[in-house]
Amino acid sequence: MSEEKAKAAEAPRRVVLVTGGMGGIGTAICRAFHAAGCRVGTTYIHDSGREERWLAAQAAAGYGGMKAFYCDIAQWADCEALREKAEAELGAVDILVNNAGITRDSVFLKMTPAQWNEVIAANLTGVFNVSRQFVGGMAARGWGRVVNISSINAQKGQFGQANYSAAKAGMHGFTKALAQEVVRKGVTVNTVSPGYIATDMVMKIKEEVREKIRMQIPMHRFGEPEEIARLTVFLAGEESGYITGANFSANGGQHMY
Ligand code: CAA
Ligand code: NAP
Repeated sequence: MSEEKAKAAEAPRRVVLVTGGMGGIGTAICRAFHAAGCRVGTTYIHDSGREERWLAAQAAAGYGGMKAFYCDIAQWADCEALREKAEAELGAVDILVNNAGITRDSVFLKMTPAQWNEVIAANLTGVFNVSRQFVGGMAARGWGRVVNISSINAQKGQFGQANYSAAKAGMHGFTKALAQEVVRKGVTVNTVSPGYIATDMVMKIKEEVREKIRMQIPMHRFGEPEEIARLTVFLAGEESGYITGANFSANGGQHMY
């Protein structure tokens, strides 16, 4: 057996929880962790049988055995219940990917309090609500990984996204603060900042606006969810333990700094 294979065989089977794992990027992240040998759980909010169809589709594609838990991450009580369900069905969570998120785009002068509050609640408070359930356990066990999925639009700001840019920028502030608190407990916390990735979230943008954005990307293409999943799995790896409090861009060269 090669040294690499022997190491993989010895590595513990990590438990990963991916919020919003039934969306475009989330599905790719769940699959990538499954392929890496992890036990995978995810959350859903739309309780319409979609979760069963999603689980069946993953199993049919070779990603069987994943678990799905109802949770609106904006609700503290849902997140407490999520911890109980996830720990009962999967075991202690070693890796948390805060991936769930929404947009409510509008120019600032037309933005309503509801559009502001919904985005802050899901994209920023949700990260607190879910992390608060699992990071204590990781620290107590002396190993853990948190990966927060932010956005290029946190780094550069975006016309029509005062709410989203603020929440996603807040996420990286959270990453850096939490990383310091758990740095001696074997837990790393990092941010991934994707550019525009070809999922429903981007396809919702009006076509003419979306095409203008695509032409601003030096590669003239949107990213693929798998390109974000690859980076996420890397940061959660056994051998990525020296990387913490950092922000990683994957944006086709649209924003460099
Ligand atoms: N910079 C400067 N001016 C702009 C502009 C820009 N980027 N975009 C639009 N404008 C101007 C328009 O030219 C227009 O000017 P006039 O009134 O002089 O004609 C004015 O602003 C109003 O623009 P719209 O007609 O587009 O206004 P709207 O109310 O119909 O739409 C909007 C506003 C919903 C914000 C729309 O512009 C939009 O969808 N923009 C894209 C926002 C975006 O990038 N969202 C990302 C979603 S995906 C995501 O968030 C994932 C991720 O992390 C990357
Ligand atoms: P998506 O396909 O719309 O998926 C978003 C997921 O988040 C869905 O599974 C959704 O659940 C879930 N979700 C939303 N609100 C929630 C809540 N309150 N509680 C629990 N789950 C909730 O979007 P995506 O493109 O994959 O985006 C995934 C993440 O990447 C988001 O945080 C997004 O901001 C970020 N991101 C995306 C891009 C991009 O270009 N696509 C770029 C940068 C960053 P339901 O399916 O049940 O609605």
